[in-house]
Amino acid sequence: MRNILISLLIASSAVPAWAGKQDAEWRNPEKNQENREARRANFFAFESESLARAGEKAKSSCYLSMEGMWRFRFVKNHQEAPQRFYEIDFDDSQWEDFPVPGLFELNGHGDPIYKNIGYSWATTFDTNPPYIGETENYTGSYRRTFVLPESWAGQQVLFHVGSATSNLKVWVNGRYVGYSEDSKVAAEFNITKYLKKGRNLIAMQVMRWCDGSYLEDQDFWRLTGIAREVYLYARPSDHVKDLVVTQDYANGNGLLSVDVQAPKSLEVEARLEDAEGNVVGTGLQQTVPQVKAWTAETPYLYTLFVNVKKNGRVVQSIRQHVGFRHVEIKDGQLLVNGQPILIKGVDRHELDPDGGYIVSMERMRQDIRIMKQLNINAVRTSHYPDDPRWYELCDSAGLYLVAEANLESHGMGYGEGTLAKRKDFRQMHLERNQGNVLTLRNHPSIIIWSMGNEAGYGPNFEAVYDWIKSVDTSRPVQYEQAGNWGKTDIFCPMYFYYRDCEKYAQTDNPRPLIQCEYAHAMGNSMGGFKEYWDLIRKYPKYQGGFIWDFVDQGLRDKSKVTGKEIFTYGGDYGRYPASDNNFNCNGIIAPDRRLNPHAYEVGYYYQNVWITDQDLKDGKFEVYNEHFFKSLDGCQLEWKVKKHGGVIDLAGIAPQQRKTFESAELKLVLARVLSHHADDEVVVNFTCKQDGQVVSRQQFVVQSYKFPELKAQQASVVKEETKSYIKLMAAGTTMTVGKWSGMIDYLDVDGQPMLIDRQSISPEFWRAPTDNDYGARLQQKFSAWKHPQMKVTSCSVVDNSVIANLDLPMATLTMTYTLMADGSVIVRQQMEPKADQKETWMFRYGMQLQMPKQYDRVEYYGRGPHENYCDRNSSEFIGRYKNKVADEYFPYVRPQESGNHTDVRWFIVSDGQRGLKFESTAPMECSALPYLTEDLDGGVSKDAHHMHSGDLVERPLTQVHIQQRQMGLGCVNSWGAWPEEVYRIPLEAYDFQFRITPVR
Ligand code: GAL
Ligand code: MG
Repeated sequence: MRNILISLLIASSAVPAWAGKQDAEWRNPEKNQENREARRANFFAFESESLARAGEKAKSSCYLSMEGMWRFRFVKNHQEAPQRFYEIDFDDSQWEDFPVPGLFELNGHGDPIYKNIGYSWATTFDTNPPYIGETENYTGSYRRTFVLPESWAGQQVLFHVGSATSNLKVWVNGRYVGYSEDSKVAAEFNITKYLKKGRNLIAMQVMRWCDGSYLEDQDFWRLTGIAREVYLYARPSDHVKDLVVTQDYANGNGLLSVDVQAPKSLEVEARLEDAEGNVVGTGLQQTVPQVKAWTAETPYLYTLFVNVKKNGRVVQSIRQHVGFRHVEIKDGQLLVNGQPILIKGVDRHELDPDGGYIVSMERMRQDIRIMKQLNINAVRTSHYPDDPRWYELCDSAGLYLVAEANLESHGMGYGEGTLAKRKDFRQMHLERNQGNVLTLRNHPSIIIWSMGNEAGYGPNFEAVYDWIKSVDTSRPVQYEQAGNWGKTDIFCPMYFYYRDCEKYAQTDNPRPLIQCEYAHAMGNSMGGFKEYWDLIRKYPKYQGGFIWDFVDQGLRDKSKVTGKEIFTYGGDYGRYPASDNNFNCNGIIAPDRRLNPHAYEVGYYYQNVWITDQDLKDGKFEVYNEHFFKSLDGCQLEWKVKKHGGVIDLAGIAPQQRKTFESAELKLVLARVLSHHADDEVVVNFTCKQDGQVVSRQQFVVQSYKFPELKAQQASVVKEETKSYIKLMAAGTTMTVGKWSGMIDYLDVDGQPMLIDRQSISPEFWRAPTDNDYGARLQQKFSAWKHPQMKVTSCSVVDNSVIANLDLPMATLTMTYTLMADGSVIVRQQMEPKADQKETWMFRYGMQLQMPKQYDRVEYYGRGPHENYCDRNSSEFIGRYKNKVADEYFPYVRPQESGNHTDVRWFIVSDGQRGLKFESTAPMECSALPYLTEDLDGGVSKDAHHMHSGDLVERPLTQVHIQQRQMGLGCVNSWGAWPEEVYRIPLEAYDFQFRITPVR
């Protein structure tokens, strides 16, 4: 019935019957607020300049926090919400105490839902804008009282709610005050006329969904409730209504224009101070000569004080950061202060593993510290305006921001159904951008506006673009769905393949290419990040991009299996959740802000100091300063060759400049080391530090490693052969090859078993699929390699070698196991593909073995210390490393392949004294984990096993993977992209040889 009604209504575009209800604003796309204060810049007006200077609201007598416990009533269905609960004599004694800020789902009410595309109400009512159902539309009603400060008498009182999802209704002392939508922009209400002396009652109501939610279909946890700051503030009846601070930079001058919207009765003074507190100018229009410009590299801030006086006395004082910079698009490039900067960006959702949408100041500062550590210089506030305090931190720390409006209607698709084409949603498109631009425009860190994300394209966006340009001509405007033809100043596609980026970069299109999302960092990923940066550094028009995304969105919880900490994802809560599984865990850092292994690769390719070898043996190399505004003054370049090292001062290398160095000391050290270590590998490791912080690292191989040849020589060994096995013995090693398995079934050293009983050293072609593997459905496409049947066609002993032929459906394997006189074993794994199998790729080519738990340490010479893969290993340097096997596994939110090391020269698994050493004739790839591959394997479909790293139980063994090669990880996206072809393993003929030597 409802569906028929709705389609009729759409056909006639009449006002639906249900829209006539008293609370219709939550179903009426053209009524999105009532009595809400007009949008204005996010300043706080203090009562005196000294308080404004200190900048702490809590110290102001104009401020009263409304955070803390409120009385609260949750109902599952909106129609059950309490009636007249906002009246003074309503009895709330049966209600509970509930935190503000606080989210329903994280405080015991309702299930957190995670959806990527598609409205999360999918399992309760149908999508049909602006229809919103009442059933399962959780509603929270809030009450609390407060005592009106006596000093506020005669002043106006405003109620500020930083973020209410999805909407907010307010009452004071039983009377309705107003309504607000747009969950990511603060709502302010003037409540003066409802107040009385002494104690007052304030009430709120928040719904899980409203028609505004149609524009809030972002890919993240869909939570409900209040986040950010909640407070009351007082202001004189004559006050500053808005403050627009325009900051520009031209010819070395800072241009400041201050527009104070205030009644004529007020006298306005503006004063600009530099960072040392010297007054550099006064007045509403100022030119600051020889100004220190603002950039992300040099975030120099001036401070503006706007004091408004009445009858000669200051009544309001506002402090505002000022950063002078000029942003423009010229000749197909984005320029900041005339420079074609590189965007080393990330997308950031505002999410905390404990607080959800509530992200503390400490967390924000931590995020910025991590970004700086990883050489990130730009953030897109995907996909909504953040807590206003975030922008202040970015102004000070120096990050370029693409400030995005809270606007995504992904669930409507991009075709004719898009809300971007619907008249009744026009105003909502505008309002959300007004909320973004009008509240945040004074921040120097914002260099670009983004009109929204994944909301199709149509006249509504053209109206938005024109509106933004009518109020702010100082910044470019971008929108991904506008492609390269619609209203967007930047071509900002998402997940563009390398070749598409390159093709575009070669055109003379006027728009620079800066991907709004790229390098989808889901799980064990970002293999092929280098390939993007090779192109970005090559083509002027290709200026970088924003990695999707900064932080995994998991929520902290406890494993039902082990009781250990886990991070949850979509589908972990509720019985029939609308869910997109772990698609919200795409971060370069984990939910608790630990760096994911791929974060190091980000830090490496985003670094700003680059060295080229110009004959290191002669001490010659070149240093390139990739900064655009900062010299390398204060940078120390440390070099290390074995135990020797030196420091070179990099002072005097101007931005974008190169300088050649000739270090006599490096030359001398290298000469000495090379003469003493004629057979050793020799590398030079460079570390560039500024103020003690590592800002860049690079490694150069000066003399290559000499891999052993591993000739399987004849030797006399003790032999024992029965019907079922061949046993060879020499120098304390006993190698037992099963005639039915064709494999080394037992390996004993000095009478100690080195293998778990009944677990042979076996060929291995499979890995626990990564998120990217699942995205490309490789767990299905490669499935022939998971447990291929291996039939032994022959197994015989020749001298000190056992040769076994194995027949697999796709190939034949010839295995040769040679026991040498010194007790070492040489394993040779040769493969011949069968005809017509060419399309079959595999995850790895090598062998695996399982050692008893006592062998729980690794020591290796290869790339480390963090796990690395053939397409993600630049940041992991060749060296000797030690670790516990347990720590070789990286706890991704969802378990998958982990722990690999590339370019391994040798690999030892031991108990600290005894163990096995593995080495090959060429660089190999190895790992050792306390889990079996099958423990980390999610099977054919992720939905079948909702795995978390904290659910894993260590096995009483160490699984060792000795591989000639493992497939790369891929980078472009997690829904179909494969690693680049050079990083794959085609089915071809292979010959892999490695030696196992007992360590005693
Ligand atoms: C983009 C979207 C992001 C996120 C990502 C996949 O299409 O803008 O919000 O969904 O894909 O993780
Ligand atoms: Mg989306």
